[in-house]
Amino acid sequence: MILVTGGAGFIGANFVLDWIATEGSPVVNFDKLTYAGNPANLASLKGDSRYVFAQGDICDRKRVASLLQTHQPQAIVHFAAESHVDRSIHGPGEFVQTNVVGTFSLLEEARSYWSALPEPAKSRFRFLHVSTDEVYGSLSSSDPAFSETTPYAPNSPYAASKAASDHLVRAYHHTYGLPVITTNCSNNYGPLQFPEKLIPLMILNALNGKPLPVYGDGKNVRDWLYVGDHCAGIRAALAKGRPGETYNIGGNSEKTNLEVVHAVCAILDELRPNSLITHYLSLITYVKDRPGHDQRYAINAEKIRRELGWEPQERFEKGLRKTVEWYLSNNEWVDSVLTGDYRKWMDSNYAKR
Ligand code: NAD
Ligand code: TYD
Repeated sequence: MILVTGGAGFIGANFVLDWIATEGSPVVNFDKLTYAGNPANLASLKGDSRYVFAQGDICDRKRVASLLQTHQPQAIVHFAAESHVDRSIHGPGEFVQTNVVGTFSLLEEARSYWSALPEPAKSRFRFLHVSTDEVYGSLSSSDPAFSETTPYAPNSPYAASKAASDHLVRAYHHTYGLPVITTNCSNNYGPLQFPEKLIPLMILNALNGKPLPVYGDGKNVRDWLYVGDHCAGIRAALAKGRPGETYNIGGNSEKTNLEVVHAVCAILDELRPNSLITHYLSLITYVKDRPGHDQRYAINAEKIRRELGWEPQERFEKGLRKTVEWYLSNNEWVDSVLTGDYRKWMDSNYAKR
């Protein structure tokens, strides 16, 4: 049994599905179901006795303590977070609450549960903290990629809140010996991603004939990783990672935002031609840049390759095509996430850009 937090979100849901398919052992998914948490992501597990859902907030320590006592997990895999940079610019408070206070609450309850475990369960226990490459700040085009020893320099409230949580996780190992592992991963893409992030936003806006809003000059660079590869990296870290260590996970696939948007448009031109829009890229609209927009992220994933034998399997072009195909064939899911709240957010985020 493992306890996953935030398993109704994009990466968490992909991880739960992947875990049950590959490991076959039970999962408890503890999720608050914020705007980003969608039980429909795990609808295929309905009736599967290996899957238990518990709705709640990681800041609720009593609830966390009771879940740990009831289910006696051998690991906690911690995804729950506020995860969108643009939202953190509009409202940083929630990010400090969930990402910092929530991670602290979870660490405290994990420490108390773990301290009381008998051997060998105690030595086998792991707290795996899922984090981001954004904690390292921004690279210039000539800088080497982020490694595990790159100093932290978070620039957005989101990145700062994740950096703070990483530091707490590290301290719980150093001070109390809690067997933690942290993974810092690059930008993910794939099925089930909420359409506020670049790739699903572009796919769905294009299909609806709406502008494709590119920040600034579109030359910011991200290192894209298919979500299934991220899940495999987390499984490897859980199985073979050394407690107290951090592992960078990346796709070896640096692209400018414009390259990504062009690639999405080319796939849609082929798979869903629209007689009213000759080429989807004609919808590209340059909008005012995101404040504090990081120029470039790139991951050096040599450590996880060398120590744990993990490497990304999916090439960007193929993974992106699979992703576009997924959005084209899951209308019900798409319709269910494009609710009134989503529209309100789009208006408030883009009105001033
Ligand atoms: P997401 O926003 O899609 O999902 C977050 C999930 O956490 C949702 O299901 C939400 O309901 C839940 N949640 C939020 N606050 C909670 C709380 N207080 N208590 C319990 N549950 C809560 O996020 P994601 O993109 O799947 O990211 C998951 C994790 O991976 C995050 O920690 C993020 O920082 C990290 N990460 C994401 C990326 C990426 O590209 N998306 C890259 C690297 C790391
Ligand atoms: P995003 O998916 O928000 O991830 P992150 O900010 O965590 O990297 O954005 C990826 C890149 O795409 C980032 O450089 C900002 C840019 N972007 C746009 O140009 N337009 C958009 O509408 C969005 C959401 C992002």
